[in-house]
Formats: sequence, C-alpha cells, structure tokens
Amino acid sequence: MGAVSPAGALGSLLGTEPAAYAWEPSSEEIARQTGLPITAIVRFDTNTRPAPPALVARVLTAGAFRPGLSEYPPNDYGPLARAAAAAYGVEPEEIVVGAGADEILDLVARAWLRPGEAAIVPTPTYAMYRVVTEQRGARVHEVPRRGPGEAWALDVAAIRAAAREAALVWLCDPNNPTGRAEAPGTLPGLLASLAGDAALDGRPAPLVAVDEAYAEFVDSSALALLDSYARLIVVRTVSKAYGLAGLRVGFGIARRPVLEPVEHHRPPGPVSTVSAAIAAAALAEPAIARSFVVETGVERERLAAGLAAVGWRVEPSVANFLLVRFGSPAVAGRAAAALLRRGLVARTFGPDHPLAAALRLTVRTPAEDDRLLEAAAEAAREEAP
Ligand SMILES: Cc1ncc(COP(=O)(O)O)c(C=O)c1O
Repeated sequence: MGAVSPAGALGSLLGTEPAAYAWEPSSEEIARQTGLPITAIVRFDTNTRPAPPALVARVLTAGAFRPGLSEYPPNDYGPLARAAAAAYGVEPEEIVVGAGADEILDLVARAWLRPGEAAIVPTPTYAMYRVVTEQRGARVHEVPRRGPGEAWALDVAAIRAAAREAALVWLCDPNNPTGRAEAPGTLPGLLASLAGDAALDGRPAPLVAVDEAYAEFVDSSALALLDSYARLIVVRTVSKAYGLAGLRVGFGIARRPVLEPVEHHRPPGPVSTVSAAIAAAALAEPAIARSFVVETGVERERLAAGLAAVGWRVEPSVANFLLVRFGSPAVAGRAAAALLRRGLVARTFGPDHPLAAALRLTVRTPAEDDRLLEAAAEAAREEAP
C-alpha cells in the first residue's frame, strides 16, 4: 500500500495528494533487476487466474463483434448488462458496467461521498477503499477487524457505532487480503442494525458497498439483501474466478435509486467492445468459474500444506490466495526478497500496515506452485539460525 499522506481536499490545499494504490514492480522491471527472462517471472501477487478460459479464443475467432469495432460500444452495454443481470439474478437496469471493479469503487465514491464526510473501512482490507475515499476529500474511519484467532471477522458493534457518523461503509466479502468470508448472518444482521439505527436517529442510513470480487469462491452473496437494505450496492468482477482481469470488466449492482447517481459519474464507454463481448459470453457459462473454484480449492490446500511444511504460518482461506504471517516485518521482507530473487512475486504490505509481517500469495498452477514451494524451502533454510 502507498504511504499515508494528508488526505483529500486538505491534501490538495497543502500541495500533497492522497495516497495512491501501490503495485509490486512490473514483471519487466523484476526481469531487469534479477537478470531472469521475463517468462520466468510468476505473479503470486495479483490474485488472478494463471490462464484465461478457453472461451476467449472461441469468441475472438468467431469475431461477431468485429463490425462494431469502428463504432463506440452502446452506452448501456445492453448485451453485457443482460448477461450480468441473468448471472446475478437482477434486472439489466440494475447493473452498471465499468472498467473493472476498481472503476465501480471509484464511481461509488464519486456518487456517494462528499468532501469531509466519513467512510468506514474495516481493516485490514483491499487498499482501494482508502484511495477512492481520500480522492474525494472524504475521511477514512478505520475499524479494525477482529484478529486472526476470530477469522478476521468484522467488528459489527464497532462498525455500527462508527456508522452513526458515516456516509458510506466499505465491506469486502470474502475479504482481501485475509482470505476469509464473514459468518452466515453477519451481513444481514449488520445491515438490519444500520437501517434500524438510522431510523431511530431520523437520518438516512449509510450507503453500504459490498465488494464481492471473490464471491464465486463461496456460496453466498449480499445480492440477496438488495430488497431488505435500500442503500446497498454490490460490486462484482470477471477478473478473479472467470480469469479475465485483462479485459477490465466489473459491475455495480443496485436498485435504481442507488445506481442512478453512480451511472451519472461514469464516462460513456470505459469498457471496449471486445472486452464486453468476451465478458458477456463468459457470464453465460457459469461452469467456467465453478470448475476453476473447485480446482483452486484443491490446489490451495496442497500449497498451504506445502508452505506449512517448510515452517511458514499459513492462514486458512476460502479464496484463490493465501495469507502467510511471519515473526516480524523484517522476516516477511526477507522471505519476499528471497522469492523475488527467484522470479516469484509476493504481495507485500507497507511498514505501517497491520499486515506488515505478512505476505499474500496467489494460488496458481501446480507447476508454478511447486516453484514457490521450492523457493520457500530455500528461503526458510536461509533464515534458519
Ligand atoms: C477485493 C478486490 N476488489 C476489487 C479488485 C479489483 O478488481 P478488478 O480487476 O475488477 O478491477 C480486487 C483485485 O485484486 C480485489 O481484490
């Protein structure tokens, strides 16, 4: 994550900018630094799928979208919105299409946060909630999650108390980077409390954005709550379980009164016609995500057991990544450096982050994961006294 800097409007006045999202270095850069060929670099930091589904080649070869390439895509992305609506069980007008879930998060902040307002961010979580909040000149109210011993669950009572002063609540379920899902009943209970508290206080309930980038890995979704909590938007993507991160396609799903202001902030054609065509075809084949989820579950447990066998402390995960905790930020840093020397890129967290002593590792193919296991064993030997 980027360094913390004075936020938003105040930051602009002071001539500084809000913290930006910080990636690990590019594969090109790592190849240059390590002297390895770029083909030897493996991204364990991006929670993406090792290869796109076979359907991509089929759609590209069929080329039904080609006559449309000299024109802009339709502003409402009709066919893609209909495919998403069918996949998520809502109406097409309850879908906004964006350039990945990340653009949807940005649009939600633009539509629903004013300078000076507060947004709740249960930490540790995905870094973009802070970024898009601060970019609006709004305040981040961090509410720490319960610790690893309690599955990094949301602290419902603390969120409920903080929500009395907040315009927006960012939730991520399953949560990145902890890899855990909320217990059944937690989100319905939290939303019912937020609505009840707001009614008692005579103020509007906060907007709740539930980022479900990894929802396909579990069997539950906040989509079921759209009828019971009026100010809810659910964020989905084809980047993770569908293996299509390079397309940049994501969705906001909400009832019209919540979605309208979000649409209002979106540029006319953020997603290319080619991306829209492939994503629509993929969403019509949910088996693509289902089989990947099953394969990933098996490989995740094999990778977790292998890392545990070399002495790394691996947390349970429901998603396509693992959180590994070390004794100190320095030990985590040395482990990441040891992997990087071998061309394997782990996700690291900055020194001020609650997970400074941890690394996040994507579950990839068995062959790539074997390289990781070998490198982890060597790193553990190098670390041994
Ligand atoms: C929780 C979460 N939300 C959103 C995203 C970004 O998704 P997209 O590729 O659709 O922009 C990520 C990517 O890592 C993520 O982990």
